[in-house]
Amino acid sequence: MKINTIHKGNCVEVMEKEIPNGSIDLIFADPPYNLSGNGLKWVGNKTGGDWFMVNEKWDKMTETEYLKFTKDWLNACKKVLKLNGSIYVSCTYHNIGELITVLKLLEFTPRNIITWHKNNAMPSMTRRSFTHSCEYVLFFSKGKKWTFNYSDIKKMNPDKAKDGSEKQMRDLWIMPVVQGKERIKDKTGRAAHPTQKPENLLERIILASSNKNDIVLDPFLGSGTTAVVAKRLDRKWIGIETENKYIKIAEKRLST
Ligand SMILES: C[S@@+](CC[C@H](N)C(=O)[O-])C[C@H]1O[C@@H](n2cnc3c(N)ncnc32)[C@H](O)[C@@H]1O
Repeated sequence: MKINTIHKGNCVEVMEKEIPNGSIDLIFADPPYNLSGNGLKWVGNKTGGDWFMVNEKWDKMTETEYLKFTKDWLNACKKVLKLNGSIYVSCTYHNIGELITVLKLLEFTPRNIITWHKNNAMPSMTRRSFTHSCEYVLFFSKGKKWTFNYSDIKKMNPDKAKDGSEKQMRDLWIMPVVQGKERIKDKTGRAAHPTQKPENLLERIILASSNKNDIVLDPFLGSGTTAVVAKRLDRKWIGIETENKYIKIAEKRLST
C-alpha cells in the first residue's frame, strides 16, 4: 500500500483495489453534499466579498444516485478501517440524514455529532429561511476501544474555565470559513477549491482520534487539507481525489 501519496481515481475503486482491509486508523471524509445545481452567486456582497455557491459536476446526483453513492463509499471505508478505528464525515442539513442512516446500517457506532458554527457565515440571500451558519461532523467508530486523546484535546481547547484552567472540549466548534492567507486562490483571485476545510478543524479531529505514525485516510482529498495537517502532526496519510486540478493544489501545499 502506498502511503503519504495522493491516489488519483474514484475513492470506492481505490479503496477496494489498493488499500488492504483493516489497515487504516482514522478516516476523515468530506464528500460531495449534493447541493450543486442552481449556480447561485452574489457578486458585490459587502459582508464577505463575492460569493459563489458550489456548482460542480461531482456534486450533482439524483436522490437515488446519492444514496447509492453514500452506501458504496461508506462500505469501502468500513472495509479498510481497522477494528477500533474512527470515521469523521462532514456534512450539512442537505445530506446528514443519508449519512447517519448508512453509517448505522453499516454498524458504525455514533460518538458525536459535532456542530461547526461558521461565525463568518454569509447572510441569507433568499431571506426565506434562517441564515445557514452550521456544518456538522459525524464522529462514528468501529468497535468499542476507539482512540480518544482526551487530555490533548482538553489542553488545546481555546475555551477555558473561569479560573483559567483547562476545560473539556464540547461538540460545538466555532471557527470561520477558511479565509485570508490559508485560503488557496487561483490566478483570478477566486477560491481554488470551493469547499476547502479549515486546518484547525482537521487538527482537532486528527489529534483526538489518532496517534503519531497512525495512518489517516481522506477519500475526498480536494485541496489536501487532511494530508497537510496529518503530515504536520507526524501521522502517515493517504489521499484520494478524482480531479487533476485539485491534486496539483494539494501537492503544492504538501511540498511547502
Ligand atoms: C467536498 S470536497 C473536499 C474538500 C477538502 N476537504 C478540502 O479541504 O479541500 C470533495 C472532493 O471530492 C472529489 N470527489 C468527488 N467524487 C469523488 C470520488 N468518487 N472519488 C474521489 N474523489 C471524489 C471532488 O473532486 C472534490 O475535490
